[in-house]
Amino acid sequence: MKGPDVRRQILVAPSLLAGDFSRLGEEVSHVTEAGADLIHLDVMDGDFVPNLTFGPPVIRAIREFTSVPLEAHLMVWHPDSYLDDLKEAGVDRIIVHQESDVHLNRLLDRIRKMGVSPGVAVNPGTPAVLLEEVLDQVDLVLVMTVNPGFGGQSFIPGMLDKISRVRAMREARPGLSFKIEVDGGISPKTASRVVEAGADVLVAGTAIFRNPPYRNAVSGLRSSAIVEIAPGI
Ligand code: DX5
Ligand code: ZN
Repeated sequence: MKGPDVRRQILVAPSLLAGDFSRLGEEVSHVTEAGADLIHLDVMDGDFVPNLTFGPPVIRAIREFTSVPLEAHLMVWHPDSYLDDLKEAGVDRIIVHQESDVHLNRLLDRIRKMGVSPGVAVNPGTPAVLLEEVLDQVDLVLVMTVNPGFGGQSFIPGMLDKISRVRAMREARPGLSFKIEVDGGISPKTASRVVEAGADVLVAGTAIFRNPPYRNAVSGLRSSAIVEIAPGI
């Protein structure tokens, strides 16, 4: 017998990297009005990844332009040295890369104790199994679906299997409740595939900021990601 349809709640997180840097505050307000669930902020140091973006002072300046949560995706070496300033700038979540700190347990513990939500990200070349020991410390696992550093890159299809494996790791251990986020090359076309594989949060830069009006772009992503699950048989 077929049970009632259950629709998973999919969150859309516009990545400001693709926004107009000469008017970031306005971009943040507009994308909030367009229905963003949260805003994704790519902090790069020009060394961990070959690009430089912005840091705590800019985040502090845009904080007042939205009431939705702000998440900082740190693509930096020594992420620990930015934590205090990011918290003070008003971020709600800090996502650190597994590859960026050998003392990941201590780092995530510190973020939690600061009263900020901890997340962990993995590059495409990093196996999901390397997250095994920290899964109970995080609220979010970010599976990078491009090599980080730039917007507008093509989605790497091989990451679908990694998303499924992270979902299986969550299901295998009672008590784990982290969300699975994807970042890079997310468009209405790839959104349905990543959601089917297990993603809960879609980060999208180009697909939103380069495809106005923002409201249509956000709702287009959300609706293409609707996956109906019929429980029971
Ligand atoms: C890439 C960043 C992404 C980027 C995604 O290193 O982490 O957040 O903005 O851009 P799109 O959606 O254009 O692939
Ligand atoms: Zn990002």
